[in-house]
Amino acid sequence: MTDARDELGELPHEERIRSRRLSGGIATLIVDATGLSAADRSKVEDELRLAALARPGIDDARIAMTAAEPSRTLIAIGSGKGGVGKSTVSANLAIALARRGKKVGLIDADVYGPSQPTLLGTDAKPTAEQERLIPVDAHGIKFLSLGQLVSPGHALAWRGPMATGALAKLMEADWGDSELLIVDLPPGTGDVQLSLIQRSRPAGAVIVSTPQDLSLSDARRAVDLFNKMSVPVLGIIENMATYLCPHCGEPSHPFGTGGAETAAREMGVPFLARLPLSLAIREASDAGRPPAATGGPDAEAFDAIAAKLLEVLAH
Ligand SMILES: Nc1ncnc2c1ncn2[C@@H]1O[C@H](COP(=O)(O)OP(=O)(O)O)[C@@H](O)[C@H]1O
Ligand SMILES: [Mg+2]
Repeated sequence: MTDARDELGELPHEERIRSRRLSGGIATLIVDATGLSAADRSKVEDELRLAALARPGIDDARIAMTAAEPSRTLIAIGSGKGGVGKSTVSANLAIALARRGKKVGLIDADVYGPSQPTLLGTDAKPTAEQERLIPVDAHGIKFLSLGQLVSPGHALAWRGPMATGALAKLMEADWGDSELLIVDLPPGTGDVQLSLIQRSRPAGAVIVSTPQDLSLSDARRAVDLFNKMSVPVLGIIENMATYLCPHCGEPSHPFGTGGAETAAREMGVPFLARLPLSLAIREASDAGRPPAATGGPDAEAFDAIAAKLLEVLAH
């Protein structure tokens, strides 16, 4: 083997070349692709190959672009059943984390009812670069939704492989410098959830439940699923607990209160937060104005959950 630096001389993108070898007329370069888009990545690769092949005595050039993905923490948001506020919590938690300075991506993986485009108030479609989806920006986060990939009103009666394939496309998208990826899972504990958890290996899961017993027994099943899959349950959020009368301010508890906290204690899972049943949350969400992005008491509530989650993750 010869001294590759002498033989190959100065190459383009020197600052990215991590190692160079020359053996039997074959040049092998290992190149750091950090921060490059898919298009730039292949441009750098092509330029290096051409430059190496232009040197005398080089018959072949092998360019290895190293995995440039930063390490990412994936957090799955699950629930035993639909309608408990899982998507609302996912969107607002993602925004609250971003407002705390984290780079956050949100994946709407709910094959049965993708709702993030509505919640985030944008019907922008993701673009793609070399088959890789580029997420849409909204309220300081990046997001992708299955709802962006099918026409509105199109029933997402996807089963098994089709759903799994579409979800894989969202997971493998160009999430850039996102450190945290929040995944809004489909409700329940079926096959789609199972294969998603198996493939994406979340660092942890958060379970959303309403306070009443029926919903809680579903939440327990969700906790069991994550336990079985060895995904740590980071906490339970009790949603739609206290209702403050908009006229007199009197608190009432239409779905009961405290049930999720008791259940969390019984299951040995952290209790993350209790969110009120709030007309403001419902109205703002339906209008595509996530409360976490706009300030006020509801934003503070989501910020407190974000703070607690970051604390749990740090341990
Ligand atoms: N804390 C809350 N107060 C009032 N309405 C809420 C609250 N959380 C969710 N909602 C409303 O309940 C409905 C279902 O919420 P969603 O997040 O879509 O549930 P899921 O994703 O679990 O099916 C939506 O109309 C949403 O605006
Ligand atoms: Mg939902």
